[in-house]
Amino acid sequence: MSRPGPEFHVISLFPEMFSPASLCGVTGKAVEQGLVGLTAYQLRDFTGGSIHPVDDSPYGGGPGMLMKPEPVFAAVEQVSSTAPPGVSVLLTPQGRRFGQEAAARLADEKRVLLFCGRYEGVDERIRPLFDEELSIGDYVLSGGELAALVIIDAVTRLVPGVLGSDESTRQESFSDGRLEYPQYTRPAVFRGEAVPDVLRSGNHAEIERWRREQSERRTRARRPDLVGVDRSAGGDRGRGEEPGDD
Ligand code: ADE
Repeated sequence: MSRPGPEFHVISLFPEMFSPASLCGVTGKAVEQGLVGLTAYQLRDFTGGSIHPVDDSPYGGGPGMLMKPEPVFAAVEQVSSTAPPGVSVLLTPQGRRFGQEAAARLADEKRVLLFCGRYEGVDERIRPLFDEELSIGDYVLSGGELAALVIIDAVTRLVPGVLGSDESTRQESFSDGRLEYPQYTRPAVFRGEAVPDVLRSGNHAEIERWRREQSERRTRARRPDLVGVDRSAGGDRGRGEEPGDD
C-alpha cells in the first residue's frame, strides 16, 4: 500500500543534517509511522568513484566557487530513476517564494526530490534539471539544507494522519489566507490578564464569531499584505498594533 504522504529524497553535501528530522518531533513520528519517507544522499557519492571535486571556480572570474554540473546530474538522475515519479526542486534564494499553497501542493506528490545548493551558487546548466526552484525567503543561507528542512516540515504536517486532527491544520495560520486567532489555556487569570469572557461562555456560535473577527483583525494589523491593505511593516517586529485589542 502506498504511503499517504511523499517520499522526500534530499541530495546534499551535509546529509547528516537530515537525521534529526527523521528522528524528532512531528517529522520524526511521521517517518516512523511510514506516513512520509525521508532519505538523504551524499552528493560526493555521485562523483564517479575517485575523489572528484563537486565545485569549481566561475568562468569569467568572481568570488567563491560554484557547484559543478556532473555530480548534480548524476545524483538527480540516479535518485529519480529509483523513486516513484514526482517533482524535483532546486533550493535557491532565486526561486519562487515557498508558502502554504506550495506546501499543500507538495503534500499531494508521491515523491519530492530536494537538491540543496552550497557555495556561491550552481552552474547555470543545472537549472533545467529541476521542475521548479524554491526559496524560503529573501535572505541568503549558507546552503539549501535549512530550506529543505523547512519545506519537509511544512509539507509533512499537512499529510493526513500526521497531526492529531485535520481541524488543527485547517484552522491554523495561512490555511485560509488569514492568521490564526488568539488562543488561551489555563489558568483563567495569569498575572492579572484574564482570558476573554466569550471563550469561557460555552456559546459556540459566539466563540466562532469572536475568533473570525480576531483572525481578521490580527491579519489586517500584522500582515496587511494578506488582505490587500497597504500598510508599511514599520519597525514593530511583526507585532502590528491590533486596534481595539486591549
Ligand atoms: N539557499 C540559500 N538561501 C536560500 C533560501 N533563502 N531559500 C532556499 N534555498 C536557499
